[in-house]
Amino acid sequence: MKFTIRLVGAIWLSVLIVIGGFAFLQIREERERLVDDLKRRAVLVGEGLKEAIEPQVARGSTVGVERILKKFGRPTRGIAVYDRFAGLMVATPDVAKLLPPSLPEVTDAVANNAVSQGFRVVGGRLAYVYAAPLTQDERPVGALAVFLDAEHLQAAEWDLWWRNALRFLALALVISLIALGLVRSSVTAPMAKMSEWTKALRAGRYVPPPEVPDTNVFGPLAREVAGLARSMQRARAAAEHEAALRLAGESIWTEERLKQFVSLRLSGRLLVVVSNREPVSHVRKGGRIQTLTPASGLVTAMDPMMRACGGVWVAHGSGDADRETADARGRLAVPEDDPRYTLRRVWLTAAEERGYYYGFANEGLWPLCHIVHTRPVFRPDDWASYLEANRKFAETVLDEIRNAEEPLVLIQDYHFAPLPALIKAERPDARVALFWHIPWPNFEAFAICPWQQELLAGMLGADLVGFHTQYYCNNFLETVDRTLETRIDWEHFTVTRGERVTAVKPFPISVAPEFVDDPPQRTREELRRQLGISAEFLGVGVERLDYTKGLPERLRAIQWFFERYPEYRERLVFVQLGAPSRTSIKRYAELALEVEATVREVNQRLGTKGWRPIVYLSGHHEHREIWSYYRHADFCMVTSLHDGMNLVAKEFVSVRDDEDGVLILSRFAGASHELRDALIINPYDLAGTAEAIRTALEMSKDERRARMTRMRHVVSEHNIYRWAGLLLSELSRIPVETPGVKAS
Ligand code: F6P
Repeated sequence: MKFTIRLVGAIWLSVLIVIGGFAFLQIREERERLVDDLKRRAVLVGEGLKEAIEPQVARGSTVGVERILKKFGRPTRGIAVYDRFAGLMVATPDVAKLLPPSLPEVTDAVANNAVSQGFRVVGGRLAYVYAAPLTQDERPVGALAVFLDAEHLQAAEWDLWWRNALRFLALALVISLIALGLVRSSVTAPMAKMSEWTKALRAGRYVPPPEVPDTNVFGPLAREVAGLARSMQRARAAAEHEAALRLAGESIWTEERLKQFVSLRLSGRLLVVVSNREPVSHVRKGGRIQTLTPASGLVTAMDPMMRACGGVWVAHGSGDADRETADARGRLAVPEDDPRYTLRRVWLTAAEERGYYYGFANEGLWPLCHIVHTRPVFRPDDWASYLEANRKFAETVLDEIRNAEEPLVLIQDYHFAPLPALIKAERPDARVALFWHIPWPNFEAFAICPWQQELLAGMLGADLVGFHTQYYCNNFLETVDRTLETRIDWEHFTVTRGERVTAVKPFPISVAPEFVDDPPQRTREELRRQLGISAEFLGVGVERLDYTKGLPERLRAIQWFFERYPEYRERLVFVQLGAPSRTSIKRYAELALEVEATVREVNQRLGTKGWRPIVYLSGHHEHREIWSYYRHADFCMVTSLHDGMNLVAKEFVSVRDDEDGVLILSRFAGASHELRDALIINPYDLAGTAEAIRTALEMSKDERRARMTRMRHVVSEHNIYRWAGLLLSELSRIPVETPGVKAS
């Protein structure tokens, strides 16, 4: 209310000042015009009479003057003639009785022999007095005075003031009404909606932010409140979860527990994570900057851990708007709406990225470690770029840990085999772990890499090397044993090379119990409608377009299924989400074409007028969008030909809080060791995979529930917080090396 009064008051005052100012100027001009008019008329009359009257006055002929005046007198124009002593001689009848004995203008005219004029009240009315001297031989012999009625001047002035007052009232009223309407629609109503919304959030109900007309005004506020609400919700959910776990006597790792662990065990030591892929990238789209979560299992896993632990995440800034969204050192707070950790971006040239990432890492090491019949390519130039990029990352990490005592550095993946040794050489006090997210092949397979010794030596710079499974640890230890001069302790799984000891342990990576904080409210029906699907069953696959994921094999298995079980035609649609990946590598470009062609072929061969067996959605999909597919599918297919872990399988399980849905999972994905209640398949066996689809569709609700419940138990217990907790605990237990002093 106060605001409205202030606003209306301000409007009225402004209108008053503007209209008042203009009215003042207008009235002044009008007055000047009217006065000029009076003057002109008075001069005309005065000059006209002067010549005729002058001789009469000089002669002292009152009668002669009277005769002349009779002719010229008018009701609004009085004329008087004075003698040389300024005494009244004759006047027209209308002014004769009103004139005072002496008039200053007349006295002046006679005394100065010059015209004198001005306003004067004569007989209670305003009059304009024009007095001109009457002369003989240039000497004053009297004066002639013309009296023009000037009452209309005041009337005109009042009229103008009045009109302007009305104008002011109308204008102030209209502007006030418009302003009040605007305030109501653009401020009061949105504020009311926002306050309803915040009330709902405070009460623990997640309601999406209201539609507000001006996102520039309310957008930032809505974002802040949404962030605050999410934090509150998370804290509340975490507290409830903790309490429930305490009651049930369970010791499941939660975000809260990891936070406590970090603050107690690491007591303020800096945690630095290094990966090639960044947790958020900024890209320009349609003239605007968009924030993207890359399609990466590594990011899905590490981001919740970093949110819990805080610290610095060093990664390649790969988005085309990344530089604009970071500070001069390439740093920014993440997540933007509720900062929990710092992202430090490393800038690589296009040539470095080509050699290090596309070349050595993804055309060399990736196929080398996956062994899926794509031949690794090793180019000396790529190797040089790989080393160069590792040096760049090392410099950045060293810069970040410069002032930190005994920092913990968690290096992620096959992009950084040389990095542990580079960091340790400069900072022996740092505890360095390297986690390898992809499989480690057997010794013979790895031996084809021309730089195998250098890679292993770099990795053994770490205090701890982690893999998803014990099998990969064993392969690694055997590779080291047969490649480098080392001592392997097969009982404790350590490698000693010179003075350095490296522990080699399995840490099966996982996801956070919540795939997204605020799942969309989209129902299965809405999802089907959006996809234009009327079939009763829905299958889903979510992948980066990578040849290790067994996509063509999966599509052929689906075709096989429909051919073998035609009764399911038009009753099942399989939706494949495919995120383009590493597209500048020929093999990936070929795969993308192959997938598209296979989808087309299967759809053409089997599809009917109103049914496509496969809906292929190629492109980037954010987690909230993927959530709906996971949540509403009858089954999810993971058909990797070889995969270190595969987090899609775990994401699917984590989302199924309805305890329904069937997971079809490749036996060659690390996840198959943990998710034993999935339908385990060999992706090369099309008939077997097709059979699994039929089993999934025909499985009883009870069995689906039982299997999903058990898998959810595994995923919720072996979650990413546990992974991080165990890894950090192992790493922080490793004694510090002080230069010159042997570690105890
Ligand atoms: O498997 C290794 C890995 O880093 C995964 O964690 C992730 O899903 C994938 O590769 C991402 O690849 P890129 O970062 O090259 O897109």
